[in-house]
Amino acid sequence: MLGLYASRWKLPKRLFKGPSYVGLDGKSLSWEVDEDKVNLRMQTYLMFPRKTVLDLFAGKGYLSWLYAKHGCEKLICVEKSEKYFKVLKENLSEFEGKCEIEFYNMDNLEFLEKNLSRDEPITHVDFDAYGSPAKQVKKFFENYQPKSFLLCFLTDGLIYNFRRLSNLNLREYYLQDFMVKHGKCRSIQHLGEYCQKIQENFMNIVAMTHNLQSYPIYFKINSRKTASYSCYLFLPKIVGNVDFKRYVGLKTVEPFPEKGKMVVEDG
Ligand SMILES: C[S@@+](CC[C@H](N)C(=O)[O-])C[C@H]1O[C@@H](n2cnc3c(N)ncnc32)[C@H](O)[C@@H]1O
Repeated sequence: MLGLYASRWKLPKRLFKGPSYVGLDGKSLSWEVDEDKVNLRMQTYLMFPRKTVLDLFAGKGYLSWLYAKHGCEKLICVEKSEKYFKVLKENLSEFEGKCEIEFYNMDNLEFLEKNLSRDEPITHVDFDAYGSPAKQVKKFFENYQPKSFLLCFLTDGLIYNFRRLSNLNLREYYLQDFMVKHGKCRSIQHLGEYCQKIQENFMNIVAMTHNLQSYPIYFKINSRKTASYSCYLFLPKIVGNVDFKRYVGLKTVEPFPEKGKMVVEDG
């Protein structure tokens, strides 16, 4: 729990009842949430109005509990593990009648495909993953087009993944063929220092693919150097004279054309 009780965003001890979280290596974690993860998220959360939060890695609900406690109007929690889901529901039961909460005990990719309503006015989406949530970020924007501002909170183990193990093909999601020659990464072991830029570029490409613009709000590597905490503000693209791609004279390029076909729209 690492110093959480010293922070401004106190979580009651009763929320921390078992089972404890298990990391990607299958071992129980000695920490479950840390101060930076909470502080950075909550500071940003409070800056923006109209709060409908989608928590895609809800777990036992520490972050969801804080969102509900601090002004959330509607909360959608998705958690695939049955044992954490049970605790999640108990932990959030005190908000019954105060905040509308929907619970989904399922894989978040399936939720995004089948259950996410395109009309839901989501203002905040939280990806508090173990490993990397890049797959979920992509899937979310394939299934949801924000009409107004949207804040994306990420817990991303990409540092951990680059250095030690990988729960997903990082080249496919983050490098997107950058630094790749003859099917091999040239310097994957040196990429740690570039993680911030790599993630930012990934978010930019996702944004541009869906006619959005994305802006980094914060980026911090956690004290254990296992993950980064970051937030991006997404806005619909402003079309016209201030269109962010066209005003610098660039042409709009179809992001993922079929092999051999480069589709260029005249600007
Ligand atoms: C870092 S923990 C989340 C902690 C939680 N945000 C909190 O504040 O208590 C990650 C959670 O995501 C869940 N999870 C992992 N992959 C998932 C998936 N594909 N779909 C839904 N939940 C998933 C895990 O079971 C775990 O509970």
